[in-house]
Amino acid sequence: MHASLADILTDLVQNSIEAGSNLVNIVFIEDIKSIRFTVEDNGRGMNKGTLERADDPFRTDGIKHPGRRVGLGIPFLRQTADQVGGRVDINSSIGKGTRVEAEFPADHLVQLWVQCLSFGGDYEMTIRRVRRDSDDRESLYDINRTELSEALGGLEDAGALGLLMEYVRSLEESLLEIDEEGDS
Ligand SMILES: Nc1ncnc2c1ncn2[C@@H]1O[C@H](COP(=O)(O)OP(=O)(O)OP(=O)(O)O)[C@@H](O)[C@H]1O
Ligand SMILES: [Mg+2]
Repeated sequence: MHASLADILTDLVQNSIEAGSNLVNIVFIEDIKSIRFTVEDNGRGMNKGTLERADDPFRTDGIKHPGRRVGLGIPFLRQTADQVGGRVDINSSIGKGTRVEAEFPADHLVQLWVQCLSFGGDYEMTIRRVRRDSDDRESLYDINRTELSEALGGLEDAGALGLLMEYVRSLEESLLEIDEEGDS
């Protein structure tokens, strides 16, 4: 996840520079629930049509890559955000510049557990997740694949995967809540 975020940010900055900007401001905020960043430039900007086309992988400005018809930066950003339940907002005005804001849920562990649990086939798996905060307070949850599969009626179809994702997310959130209660 972090590797692809770095790729995405690099692409956005490259877009800014290629748009003739001489000022690019980046803000990057990471907290326990999400990663958010904005890239703001003072480049040539886009009108509404260009902005709409920027979402289309089969369009590029035809100038940057003569002979290439696809521009992948912004569609890749949108696709990545869609896949993980994030969001992207792009504001742009001609002659003034462009501001891209993106937010991704910081739930790479949820995705990891779902992956590990949802390989096809009949296998048992247990996962113990422990979280220790800076005061050494500990919280944990346990997952047992067989029990989970029985409760959800299998782990194969899309519906069950959705439920699995929700369930694991709620387990992760319960760890964070214990932390927040402790803080207050
Ligand atoms: N910051 C920006 N300022 C002005 N125009 C932009 C900006 N970012 C994107 N665009 C416009 O949107 C188009 C699509 O951008 P996108 O990053 O998706 O593809 P690309 O930059 O053309 O190609 P690639 O990213 O694959 O090198 C660009 O060609 C450019 O016209
Ligand atoms: Mg680009």
